[in-house]
Amino acid sequence: MSNVQVITTPAAMSDWSESARRRGERIAFVPTMGALHAGHVSLLAAAREEGDRVVLSIFVNPTQFGPKEDLARYPRDLDGDLAKAASVGTDVAFVPGGADMYPPGAQTFIDVREVSQGLCGDRRPGHFTGVATVVAKFFGIVRPHVALFGEKDFQQLAVIRRMVADLNLPVEIVGRPTLREQDGLAMSSRNAYLSPTERGRAVAIFEGLSAARARFAAGERQSSVLVDAALAMMQDRVDCIDYVEIRAADSLRLVERLEKPAVILAAASVGATRLIDNMRLG
Ligand code: PAF
Repeated sequence: MSNVQVITTPAAMSDWSESARRRGERIAFVPTMGALHAGHVSLLAAAREEGDRVVLSIFVNPTQFGPKEDLARYPRDLDGDLAKAASVGTDVAFVPGGADMYPPGAQTFIDVREVSQGLCGDRRPGHFTGVATVVAKFFGIVRPHVALFGEKDFQQLAVIRRMVADLNLPVEIVGRPTLREQDGLAMSSRNAYLSPTERGRAVAIFEGLSAARARFAAGERQSSVLVDAALAMMQDRVDCIDYVEIRAADSLRLVERLEKPAVILAAASVGATRLIDNMRLG
C-alpha cells in the first residue's frame, strides 16, 4: 500500500498540480466530503484508470449545508479515509481547512439556475450554490484534466455538467454508476446514521424505484403510474417522502410520458436521516 501525500493549502496543491502538468501527467480528481465508503473507493479506482495521477479532496463544505442540516454531525474519519485512498493508489489527498476555502471577505458564489431548481434544490435552498461554488474552486486549485462524480447525486452531477459547460471550464466530467449494498440500498456516508431497524426500512427507497423500473420494463410509459408504483412500496416504511419524480435524464425537466431517456429520483427520510437515490429509465 503506497502512502497518500496530504496537502492542506490551496497554494501547495496548485504547485503540485502545476509540476504534474509540466511533466505531461493527466490529473484525475475525485472531490469528496470524506467518510469514504466503497462507492468513493470505486470512484478513486476508476480515476486511476482515467489519469496518471489521482487527487482526492476531503472537505466538509459548510456552504452546501442549510442552517438546520447535519454539518456538525457529518461523519469524519481522516485516518480511515487515507487508508482507503491508499488502497487504490491515490497520489494526493487535498484536505484544506474552512478558512483556506472561504477566506474572510469571500463573496463570490456560483448559481446554476434551472437545473438547481426542483428536487433537492427546492428542499435544500442554497445547497447547489454551495456545491457548484466549492467544486469550481477545487477545479481552480487542483486544475484536473478529468473529475469523477457518483450518479447517486444525479442532480448534483447535472448541476456540475451545466456549470462546466456554461463557464467553459477545461475539465472532463465523468459520472459513475451508484454502488449499492447487497440488499440494494445506495451507498452513502449518511447510511452510518441509520439504526439497525432504520437500516432495514431504508431499503424501501431502492425497492420503490425498482418497482417503478419493473413497470417501465413491462411497457408502462405514464410517469404518474410509475411514480405511484414507487410510492406504494415506500409509503409505510420510510418516515417522510420528500419527492418521487421522473425527469428527463439530460435536462432534468419534468416528464409526463416517457419517450426519451429519463430518470426516477427519490428523497426520503428514515428516522432523522435524509437519503436520496435514483434509477435510469430507458
Ligand atoms: O458529493 C459530495 O460529496 C459533495 O457534494 C462534493 C461534490 C464533494 C462538494 O462538496
